[in-house]
Amino acid sequence: MKDLQFSRHRRLRSSATMRSLVRETYLRTEDFIYPLFILEGENKKNEVKSMPGVYQLSMDNLKAEMDEVVGLGIKSVLLFGVPDEKDECGTQAYHDHGIVQVATRYIKENYPEVIVVADTCLCEYTSHGHCGLIENGDVDNDSSLELLVQTAVSQAQAGADIIAPSNMMDGFVAAIRAGLDEAGFHNIPIMSYAVKYASAFYGPFRDAADSTPQFGDRKTYQMDPANRLEAIREAESDVDEGADFLIVKPGMPYLDIVRDVKNNFNLPVVIYNVSGEYSMVKAAAANDWIDEERIVMEMLTGMKRAGADLIITYHAKDAARWLKEQ
Ligand code: PBG
Repeated sequence: MKDLQFSRHRRLRSSATMRSLVRETYLRTEDFIYPLFILEGENKKNEVKSMPGVYQLSMDNLKAEMDEVVGLGIKSVLLFGVPDEKDECGTQAYHDHGIVQVATRYIKENYPEVIVVADTCLCEYTSHGHCGLIENGDVDNDSSLELLVQTAVSQAQAGADIIAPSNMMDGFVAAIRAGLDEAGFHNIPIMSYAVKYASAFYGPFRDAADSTPQFGDRKTYQMDPANRLEAIREAESDVDEGADFLIVKPGMPYLDIVRDVKNNFNLPVVIYNVSGEYSMVKAAAANDWIDEERIVMEMLTGMKRAGADLIITYHAKDAARWLKEQ
């Protein structure tokens, strides 16, 4: 043994205090953005079947939810609308009395310090469930941009603090930036879903937001999961067009992409820990196959270590609670 040369890595793991002394990555409740699904109508609180603990809420149930969120120290929410009426061109997305606009006004009036992030997309509002206008059986890019700009401006008018376009049309950041500026919203940042893959992990979300495409899929606008360089091209154009934050989505299977984006660009990077990732953890935890708290905290820590500055996650309330207890 005497002549062996090796490093004593275990020296820095010898006790809880020693480990905490050399810890490199921290989770903070301020890192979390919590998604909310707002329903039209009254007296509704529907648990999403595939997402235990996540509810579609009508406005009268929003106060209790917001009190809980704020009480836990969560500073930001991401709003999705589930309208009663859908049509070909997603009118409710950019209507002044659309459900997201109503919810935004309510939150900004009653919880002014909370950051409201508005998801800017049409798929929850269109009868066909696609993220833009349909022409000749596919989503038409440029005519969809006009409606997305209207949606973003109407969300900003309602008081949204951040516009988060998730539609994956080409040029959406340029169009929305120009539209916001023209309407006087120079200071409203764009959190772009810059890198969004056509993922099976969105399945449970589509139950929650009632946004499953009625024909075809999203593969002509969302990215092929096999591609890495394409992520850089997507992020690059969004940076050029004026994005203020870059989202990578989904989360767990795409941590390499998060690191690429972090290393290549100087903007805050946001990871979206999506519905399918949440459902898998919840299902395994319900069966007592995993330790939910440890699994969730390890996943979220891994996302930050990979380079995410912020995490959009359905686990936010639980994680905030666990961070408080620690
Ligand atoms: C809207 C949108 C989707 C998600 C966020 N915004 C669904 C989709 O693109 O089909 C998915 C989020 C999740 O799965 O948690 N386009």
